[in-house]
Amino acid sequence: MLALGCDHGGYELKQEIKKYLEEKGIEYLDFGCDSTEAVDYPVYAKKVARSILSGECEKGILICGTGIGISITANKFKGIRAALCTDCFCAEATRAHNDANVLALGGRVVGPGLALKIVDTFLNTPFSGAERHMNRISQMETD
Ligand code: RB5
Repeated sequence: MLALGCDHGGYELKQEIKKYLEEKGIEYLDFGCDSTEAVDYPVYAKKVARSILSGECEKGILICGTGIGISITANKFKGIRAALCTDCFCAEATRAHNDANVLALGGRVVGPGLALKIVDTFLNTPFSGAERHMNRISQMETD
């Protein structure tokens, strides 16, 4: 299950992503927001982070205007690895190397065409499982 969350700056892109996921038959839970009315992105980042940490969802996609505030918030949660991506190279690398469990996008940064390619890359790239990457990921979790 995929968790989706956004603020008003990401709402329109989230709608495009939902259409795409439905076409592909990928199940998701939408944690809001539900319109372009101004809201606070941390609320939605926290809902998505908690749904992953509880095991309800496996991965998530978070979208705000830049993707920055919503990814900073998600990354405050131990066990969340949110990667802000603006291209497919980074989306592939962050899955293969960082085992990122949240993709963050900027709804005012990337257009829907590129965003959907990034989503596709993120969802279809496995973690490499290489020991060096596992070691680095475990080092993220300690101060
Ligand atoms: C909202 O105007 C904007 O600040 C937000 O969407 C995001 O870009 C924050 O990082």
